[in-house]
Amino acid sequence: MKQFISVHDVPDINGMVRKALDYKNNPLRDKTLGTGKRIGCLFLNPSMRTRLSTQIAAQNLGMEVIVFNVGSEGWALEFEEEAIMSGSTVEHVKDAAPIMGKYFDILAIRTFPSLKNREDDYSELYIKQFIKYAGIPVVSLESATLHPLQSFTDIITISEQLAKSNDGGQRNKNSGPKIVLTWAPHVKPLPQCVANSFAQWINAWGEAEFVITHPEDYELNEEFTRGATIIHDQDEALKDADFVYVKNWSTYSDYGKIYSNDPEWMLTNDKLNLTSNAKVMHCLPVRRNVELSDEILDSPNSLVTQEAANRVWAAQAVLSTILKSL
Ligand code: CP
Repeated sequence: MKQFISVHDVPDINGMVRKALDYKNNPLRDKTLGTGKRIGCLFLNPSMRTRLSTQIAAQNLGMEVIVFNVGSEGWALEFEEEAIMSGSTVEHVKDAAPIMGKYFDILAIRTFPSLKNREDDYSELYIKQFIKYAGIPVVSLESATLHPLQSFTDIITISEQLAKSNDGGQRNKNSGPKIVLTWAPHVKPLPQCVANSFAQWINAWGEAEFVITHPEDYELNEEFTRGATIIHDQDEALKDADFVYVKNWSTYSDYGKIYSNDPEWMLTNDKLNLTSNAKVMHCLPVRRNVELSDEILDSPNSLVTQEAANRVWAAQAVLSTILKSL
């Protein structure tokens, strides 16, 4: 593996899930694999889970980790080719990235979309420019349109949950699980990254009945959702679900807007009663009692803490695969 920016970089999802769960059972199994190797984790935007789990994963593999909050502590970077840099940007990525390529063996980067110009955001200029100029493997810690480490973690969490249900003899379905991605209200316009990425990974995984539910006019880019059933009636979508993934996103067509904040879309116990006692997932951070009710987040149906904890094993599986290819 030479980069990790989407599901297309993973030829065998279930193989990677097994690798991640092996690390969960034995975190220090490859504690010398990264000896003498250094990872730079660049944050152009805030993070808690991604930052800490990636650091822990790299350290479990014996790597040295340097975290650089470029967005708040570094020179303002320019990403446009042939830019006349007479504005606020101080250093071109063309000059900064090759230097990082000399300092580090792997570069991991978090960038967010502007939510102002869809074409710009969906061109993934920032991460593509780092890939182009750094000359070393690049790992996405969330980009303008995708969050692959989160989605990989989500499949790990679903897989381990399914294994538990099968061991306990609780599942009697011959088909795969029913997974519902549901839109939730939010006070701010949020990126589509997590929803796009979750849809992309679940479709590529191909082991679930996959339903997406959202208010009309919240359609995501078909490039990611193709293969899922899209239902605008949330109650109908939730029927018999085994997993409900809750996430807000802003509008895609009329880009980056909030059209609805209807509290009826917040997942509550009444809605959960429509499901097959579904486990509930969210990438976090979550706005309690806006996106998801306390009664669900604090219930045994919530997988959110397990999901966030699994971020370490996802990152460790990805970093170890890249280290082996260096
Ligand atoms: N889920 C997630 O990426 O969390 P952070 O933004 O805290 O990294």
